This record gives sequence, C-alpha cells and structure tokens, in this order.
Amino acid sequence: MPDQDPIVRWNNNIHYHQVILDAIPESARTALDVGTGNGLLAADLHKCIPDVTGLDADADVLESARHEDGDVNWIVGDVLTYPFEPASFDVVASVATLHHLPDITQTLTHLADLVAPGGVLAVVGLARSTRPSDALYDLAGFLQQQRYKRRHGIWAHSAPIVWPPPHSYSEVRRAAVQALPGVQWRRLTMWRYALVWNKAVI
Ligand SMILES: C[S@@+](CC[C@H](N)C(=O)[O-])C[C@H]1O[C@@H](n2cnc3c(N)ncnc32)[C@H](O)[C@@H]1O
Repeated sequence: MPDQDPIVRWNNNIHYHQVILDAIPESARTALDVGTGNGLLAADLHKCIPDVTGLDADADVLESARHEDGDVNWIVGDVLTYPFEPASFDVVASVATLHHLPDITQTLTHLADLVAPGGVLAVVGLARSTRPSDALYDLAGFLQQQRYKRRHGIWAHSAPIVWPPPHSYSEVRRAAVQALPGVQWRRLTMWRYALVWNKAVI
C-alpha cells in the first residue's frame, strides 16, 4: 500500500499555494482569487486576510467552493467583465487559470489594474513546453510528482480544465515582463510557473 496521509489534500496546484501565500504583504486586508475552482486557495487566503473573494466563471464548481469556507465572498463571473472597481484588492491571486484566457497580456494588465497600490499580483500558471530546458523541468517535475503521489495521493479537483495550454513558457514570460514592469518570474517544476508583481505605493 502507498504511504498515504488521508488528511492532506495534495495536487500540483495545492502544492504551490505557498508561493502565493509567501507573496502576501503584511498589511493586506482584501484578496481576490481568480478562477477559484473548488475554492481551496481562497480558503487558505482567508486564514490570514479578513476579506476574501473567490471568483469563478463556472457556477457548478463554485457550489463546492462554498463548502470550503462560508465567509468567503463567492462570485460567479468572468474576471475580464465582472465590474470590480480598479485597485480593489491588496492581493490578486490565481492558480492554474490564466491559460483559460486567450489573451495573456490583456489578462495580466487587467489583473494588475485590480491590485491596490502597495498590493501584489501573484500567479501560479501552466504553460506549454517548447524548449529543451522545459523538457528538463518536465522530467524533474514528473519524478517529483511520483514522490508526492506515493505520499499523499492526488486530490482530484472538479474545476473545468483547458489542455494543452495555449501559450508557451517563453510567451507568458515575455507578456509578463511587458505588462508588469519589475515582475519576478520563476519557472517551477510540475508544469507550472510563478509570477509575483508588487504594485508601487505611489
Ligand atoms: C484548472 S481550474 C483551476 C481551479 C483552482 N484555481 C485550482 O487551483 O484548482 C481553472 C478555473 O478557472 C475558471 N475560469 C476560466 N476562465 C475564467 C474567467 N474568464 N473568469 C473566471 N474564472 C475563469 C474555470 O471555471 C476553472 O474553475
């Protein structure tokens, strides 16, 4: 029998929640989780941020999110059209969602507009491997995932998926550098990248 821990819910997305949580400014009071799916990141954010909104375009998956935390504001909507005021959130976060939106530059620009001065945009995303170095990350990620799988199993989310991702890692990185001056970009294993962008206080 695999050595599974029944308490831990593990998958590649949950694994990287800490990247988002580590980016939260100490003063943060409000957060938006874009493409919240089953709502696990929004619930994690709510452990340290009092006012959290989880947004998803899919009403069915949001029904399951409501069970994670009754005090998060769960909203059904499209992030590109939902009428949030600009600069509404100290933290705009998103995991495994940006590849659902076809225009990556437009999406990043819009998410940046929603961040309040002094706040942060923190994204963990998926992209397409196109370079030899991507293949090395993919191999390392495969081996790493096998280890975690043996330990925790894989928790299956019920959110809509898009595969393959439409943009390569290089395209996402270029778009991020263009849309978010000063962005910190990280290639991650297990088919992910992270970007963290701090909005100036002004
Ligand atoms: C692969 S799931 C990831 C869910 C969750 N963040 C996680 O880590 O498990 C992507 C989610 O983005 C949502 N989504 C796609 N396009 C969206 C949009 N334009 N606005 C809001 N949510 C969107 C989908 O409905 C889906 O639940």
